[in-house]
Amino acid sequence: MIAGRCLAGAARQQVTRQAPQQLFRPAFAQAQSRGYSVTKEENKVAKFPGSKGSDGKFTVSLIEGDGIGPEISQSVKDIFSAANAPVKWEPISVDPVFKDGKQAIPDEAIDSITRNYVALKGPLATPIGKGHVSLNLTLRRTFNLFANVRPCKSIQGYKTPYDDVDTVLIRENTEGEYSGIEHVVVDGVVQSIKLITREASERVLRFAFQYAQDIGKPKVRAVHKATIMKMSDGLFLSCARKISKEFPNVEFDAELLDNACLKVVSDPTPYNDKVLVMPNLYGDILSDMCAGLIGGLGLTPSGNIGDECSIFEAVHGSAPDIAGKGLANPTALLLSSIMMLQHMGLTEHASKIQAAIFKTLAEGKTITGDLGGKAKTHEYADAVIKNL
Ligand SMILES: NC(=O)c1ccc[n+]([C@@H]2O[C@H](COP(=O)([O-])OP(=O)(O)OC[C@H]3O[C@@H](n4cnc5c(N)ncnc54)[C@H](O)[C@@H]3O)[C@@H](O)[C@H]2O)c1
Repeated sequence: MIAGRCLAGAARQQVTRQAPQQLFRPAFAQAQSRGYSVTKEENKVAKFPGSKGSDGKFTVSLIEGDGIGPEISQSVKDIFSAANAPVKWEPISVDPVFKDGKQAIPDEAIDSITRNYVALKGPLATPIGKGHVSLNLTLRRTFNLFANVRPCKSIQGYKTPYDDVDTVLIRENTEGEYSGIEHVVVDGVVQSIKLITREASERVLRFAFQYAQDIGKPKVRAVHKATIMKMSDGLFLSCARKISKEFPNVEFDAELLDNACLKVVSDPTPYNDKVLVMPNLYGDILSDMCAGLIGGLGLTPSGNIGDECSIFEAVHGSAPDIAGKGLANPTALLLSSIMMLQHMGLTEHASKIQAAIFKTLAEGKTITGDLGGKAKTHEYADAVIKNL
């Protein structure tokens, strides 16, 4: 019923099904083919400053991660090698060390990412309720990864209630409800501070407008709850209005969070022409909801973008229940690695690998158990390599 409603009427006409190889199209190609102006190179925020070494390759820091991390990382390495992607991997460990009594990322890992400006990361397990701070959070803070980019696009061959989802959500990644400022007022009363600053808001908003231009989306929508949080979300919203004036080619509007949630799950197609940008907690929840629309976290890539360094990662966790069994689906990490190649300007290799992935999924013969198939992780990777 929902799918029928989603595909009916005017909203349907706005959306044309794209061939698999057009999904996550290289940013500049899309923007230019639609005739939007792209932010001038010198004015860009978060541009990739890396360069090739004397061997003609970029070095990328690789955090294989826990659980299924090493298995899915192996698939990425095999496929990149078969596709002759000019990338050399530098494996690093981010197992926490303690500096001045605080948990920190080891210096070697920080040096590697700082030197290479880019990392690909597998999932990291976080013990629940222990003193160990989330390593993901520590990485975001260490490298000031201010924007989390989460595209969700329907995958041909994998049937979900909606066929034409194409949402892009950008979440502020450094403050808001996740500032980590909490304290006990008196026994039984705790207080958590939601921190919103003009600086962080303007930075993520400027990036959202730039990203919309780069990927050829004509609209940016800020999602907020300024009706209730008049000062904090009010500041985010007023920053959005201000930054929108710097991008006259991009349409801007705003929507209340609750309204956005209701509408996205009722019919996601009107969101296909927009980049949604929002404070931290809203983005965390809404991006998982969008992932659900295309079949779950196992298919969803992400990029954590910083001023200099950026880290690309699958959205799912370390899947301890299937670790070491060869059952993991590496698609989300692969799609994250494609976002990484695009960020690095390696758009031809990105398109080539992406086309092979979507062909393999659309054929449906060699897919992993989570997608209803029987293939092992390495068999799926081999099928992608054959389709390159
Ligand atoms: N970005 C990250 O590093 C990240 C994200 C989420 C969770 N985690 C951590 O991962 C650990 C496990 O978390 P969880 O169990 O809540 O979530 P999870 O995503 O690891 O697993 C949820 C379910 O999805 C399945 N699944 C996940 N990824 C899959 C894949 N690629 N292929 C096939 N099936 C897959 C798992 O088998 C499991 O049944 C926790 O320690 C958590 O903190 C890390």
